[in-house]
Amino acid sequence: TTVTAAAPAPAKKAVPDVQTVTAVRHWTDRLFSFRCTRPASLRFRSGEFVMIGLMVNDAKTGREKPLLRAYSIASPSWDEELEFYSIKVEDGPLTSRLQHIEVGDEIVLRPKPVGTLVHDALLPGKRIWFFATGTGFAPFASLLREPQTYEDYDEIIITHTCREAAELHYGAELIAGLKEDALLNEVIGEGFWKKIRYYPTTTREQSPKMGRITDLMRSGEAFTDLGVQPLDPAADRAMICGNLAFNLELKEMLEGYGLEEGANSDPKHYVVEKAFLD
Ligand code: A2P
Repeated sequence: TTVTAAAPAPAKKAVPDVQTVTAVRHWTDRLFSFRCTRPASLRFRSGEFVMIGLMVNDAKTGREKPLLRAYSIASPSWDEELEFYSIKVEDGPLTSRLQHIEVGDEIVLRPKPVGTLVHDALLPGKRIWFFATGTGFAPFASLLREPQTYEDYDEIIITHTCREAAELHYGAELIAGLKEDALLNEVIGEGFWKKIRYYPTTTREQSPKMGRITDLMRSGEAFTDLGVQPLDPAADRAMICGNLAFNLELKEMLEGYGLEEGANSDPKHYVVEKAFLD
């Protein structure tokens, strides 16, 4: 008998953390959302972000390398898939490419979730405010579908400020859809969605409520519209996610109401995170 040595298996190409795109929706010429498969091992807390991106050719070495950016996970922790909500920047290194993804395409996802917009970083309270501008709505899309949000709070107020009315559609549709969410209805009980107050505003196009949320709070108009008192550290908790100027301005306002910034290791009254910008 002759023994033939098996040829050594070809070295496996080091495949990065690849996931497959399962759905894509374009909301405006500047905004899109997509869903992809979820790695079986990925555990995260609603509100956290991960690094995602695409393999691109490195002009210097001629080799493929991952181009990654931080993206809030817009889907809740219990979802079988992952969802992301993104801006499209024409000359953005990643989003100029990412905006062209289609169902079946592969994206890179580093399964190491982190972030401060998590329930663990807040002390117990009665009412939680989610303050978003633009794509800063993404972590709240996750938290609004998270049962704990309704278990922990009697009232949830979500404000979303965008330049144009069409930029509100992703959030508006998601909130309208919560009523039909089978899991939330089962876990939290029918009518949980009545705890949500949605306060959308636009700044550069006519809509039922115009103005920056910061200005509307400063003038008291937002509180009058919502029928609530200004924020109070005894009852109110808040999460902020938007562009940098917005985050800083609102942070200062919340500090003015007496709220203090919390962290995972030191829960307090509010937390902040910057929305992704390419
Ligand atoms: P504005 O149109 O007055 O700049 P962007 O698309 O530039 O990230 O902005 C998203 C939304 O956030 C816009 O409606 C913008 O209003 C608003 N915005 C920008 N800066 C601030 C800020 N410092 N405070 C409150 N809202 C802001």
